[in-house]
Amino acid sequence: MHNFTRLVRETLIATTVLLLAACSGGEPRGESAGGANEQQPIVLGFSQIGAESEWRTANTTWVQTAAAEAGIKLRFSDAQQKQENQIKALRAFIAQRVDVIAFSPVVETGWETVLREAKAANIPVILTDRAVDVSDQSLYLSLIGSDFVEEGRKAGRWLLEHFQGPAKDHTGDVNIVELQGTVGSAPANDRKKGFAEIIASDPRFKIIRSQTGDFTRAKGKEVMEAFLKAEGRRIDVLFAHNDDMAIGAIQAIEEAGMKPGTDIIIISIDGVKGAFEAMIAGKLNVTVECSPLLGPQLMAAVKDVAAGREIPRRIITEESVFPKETAAEVLPTRKY
Ligand code: AHR
Repeated sequence: MHNFTRLVRETLIATTVLLLAACSGGEPRGESAGGANEQQPIVLGFSQIGAESEWRTANTTWVQTAAAEAGIKLRFSDAQQKQENQIKALRAFIAQRVDVIAFSPVVETGWETVLREAKAANIPVILTDRAVDVSDQSLYLSLIGSDFVEEGRKAGRWLLEHFQGPAKDHTGDVNIVELQGTVGSAPANDRKKGFAEIIASDPRFKIIRSQTGDFTRAKGKEVMEAFLKAEGRRIDVLFAHNDDMAIGAIQAIEEAGMKPGTDIIIISIDGVKGAFEAMIAGKLNVTVECSPLLGPQLMAAVKDVAAGREIPRRIITEESVFPKETAAEVLPTRKY
């Protein structure tokens, strides 16, 4: 009797082990072994930075829409621009054992530990939009997004090629103020670097003030007010790391009794509809495109990863430069 009970127990354990193995191994997610009914949706955990800009809102919409269209089950988390919230979200995704994790890291550093946890749990990680600074490159599979250094260079090149100066004598220095993005973020670091690299070729171009506006309109306005208070009409050029800060700064310039786009030449980055409207109104001189439409590329990569296929280490978005002269014609074609 004793032996019989043991036999039943051992048979049950063996059956359970076999069942578990069949569920966890075998066919990759999203790929059907037999009929279509057996297909399991891929579960993607996505940690978004927040809703700090028009760009970010468009990016969120594109990720959500692309996931739905690709039949991928999306677990979406908004970090409200805080790294600790993103780390919590990533840990939650690991605990839930999602198939793939994707995230847009608010800052570059401080990710090693949580990414090691994802790796230990065998969950592949894809970065979208922004980069991380980690010593172990195997902690993520791919980065899908823009070349931010090149965006900064494009802004610098436009300035060197097109600066004619407002209605005043510009034989001397060209005084630039810079509104930086979020401190420690890849776009703020890289855009600053690319812009500085280009203007360094002409010693007349000088950055006289540079401060973060955290990629938001409200902070862009606040910091521009402080720049104007300190420098007044000495300011010739504003380089804003995104359109939202430029739009906030435009308000500050108008409230100070100056003409944005004329008294102060304004260069920004993103290419959101708000920037095109500002250019049509003559208040912004140029926007360097940074595309938030990353959803479809991300979902294709997620499907490949879930199916065990290799994906490129770096997928760079193609982007243009839109000066104000093109704005009216281009605006109707803009998707964000
Ligand atoms: O990481 C992309 C940047 O983040 C965009 O330029 C900005 O608008 C956003 O908030």
